[in-house]
Amino acid sequence: MHKIKLNGKTYEIDEKSDEPMMQQLVKQGAEIVAACGGAGICQTCAFKTKKGKFTEKTETEKMMDLPDGQRLSCQCRPESDGEIEMIY
Ligand code: FES
Repeated sequence: MHKIKLNGKTYEIDEKSDEPMMQQLVKQGAEIVAACGGAGICQTCAFKTKKGKFTEKTETEKMMDLPDGQRLSCQCRPESDGEIEMIY
């Protein structure tokens, strides 16, 4: 389990879960826009990394050409405790 801070709240994310971070955050009450439901298409679940390490970019994320430090929360999991800021 890793602790991820978002908007002043701390969430516990299981890095070994089959569920990406977005689904785990939403289950714990985080308000995340996820227009495509986690398919990696809409980019509304994008976040900026303030602290921490996350799993390698998926092929989907590589194709998106996201700005440095931005990831899709439906495509990754944390590899350490961290802090993120949602873009939308
Ligand atoms: S929920 Fe659409 S890209 Fe992540």
